[in-house]
Amino acid sequence: MIETFDPMDLSDPFGFYRWARSNSPIFHDARSGYWVLTKHKHIHHVLGNEHLFSAELDRVNYSDLSPEAREILEPIRFEELYGLSTTENPSHDRVKRVLLPLFNDLFIRNLKPAVEDIADGYVAAIKGERQVDMASTVFRDLPADVIFTVLGVPRADIPQVKEWSHSRMALTWGGPGEQARHAANIVKYWAYCRELISRKIEAPSDDLPSLLGESYRNGLISLREVELLCYGLIFSGHATTSAFLTESLRTLLASGTWRRILAESIPFAETVDELLRLCPSAFTRRRLVLDDVRLGELILSKGSELLLVIGSGNRDEDVFDRPDELILGRQNSHKHLALGYGFHYCIGAKIVKLEYAVVMNLLARNFPDLRLSAGMAITYHPNISIRSPDSLFVDLSG
Ligand code: HEM
Repeated sequence: MIETFDPMDLSDPFGFYRWARSNSPIFHDARSGYWVLTKHKHIHHVLGNEHLFSAELDRVNYSDLSPEAREILEPIRFEELYGLSTTENPSHDRVKRVLLPLFNDLFIRNLKPAVEDIADGYVAAIKGERQVDMASTVFRDLPADVIFTVLGVPRADIPQVKEWSHSRMALTWGGPGEQARHAANIVKYWAYCRELISRKIEAPSDDLPSLLGESYRNGLISLREVELLCYGLIFSGHATTSAFLTESLRTLLASGTWRRILAESIPFAETVDELLRLCPSAFTRRRLVLDDVRLGELILSKGSELLLVIGSGNRDEDVFDRPDELILGRQNSHKHLALGYGFHYCIGAKIVKLEYAVVMNLLARNFPDLRLSAGMAITYHPNISIRSPDSLFVDLSG
């Protein structure tokens, strides 16, 4: 089994990981060089011990950069551009202390009407259609619209910034194809972030970069840290959310749960953890071992590289009964690792849950007969980290 394992193939990896959890829960993948962790307890342990396992590994490109791509990226020192999720201490805690309070309950309450407004617009645009691809319509740009509202990015820039952030995903976690094009996009993307921040610092308004600008003026974080946060958030704030919403709707429809939720008027907000458990779009994360350490039966030496398969841990039968099934009311769904755990726990967790509840409610209200279109095979972009359906065709009415 392990000989045929390909970490880039996320189309239907669940059977393999079920086998791995009982036969070889931590195994070495010769192709990637990673130790692959498949059990919830091991992944949880690694995420919770940041002093032993560094997230800095997740900055590194999975595929080596071509000389051409390297030359294009050289002027921006690409290897020094990264978000909070791959920043370690001493900087991480100081920066998170500035950022985290800005994502409080009041912020989420205030954001809700904007999310409803944005979602309304996307749903109105597909009304009257018989069949639509949800991945390339509602779900592709809605999360970007939300995070760009938070970041004060103009709506007109969305398609462009979306393309650039796709390039960042492809260059970091994808294969060796089209690296020069992606590299050129990243150069533009970084210039865009820097310019946005300098505008917000000069003329603050009611958005996150303006608040971060205040922390910069007060000496709590540096200008570069504000720029890097923006560079990270523009990306992490939507690619994962688009993928999660698409895979969640697919799962709700395929399992028949959509009908049950509507028939029993179950609030979507109550189902979100079970969907995050089953459909984690950040399917894997990586860690570097900082010192010789015991993990399960193994001693891993300093410098070992780990692939934490969150999508496997979330279906670990030692933690979740009937792990492959979507069970409404499951008592321990919240034990999923889809948004991380501990030190690097996702800052956008409340935004993700809000977006999911708002958009699913709206779809249910407008298209109660929504169903998967017949005969449409679903493919997933080859990638070691983000599990993202390429398309999701649905019939909107009967
Ligand atoms: C379904 C959507 C999302 C998923 C699946 C997801 C997943 C994750 C995961 C697994 C981590 C932990 C990374 C690690 O430990 O290596 C993380 C961290 C993070 N996420 Fe999210 N995320 C999502 C949406 C968002 C949104 C909307 C934002 C925007 C605010 C965001 C911002 C962040 C940041 C800044 C971190 C780093 C936190 C830290 O290092 O302390 N994420 N996310």
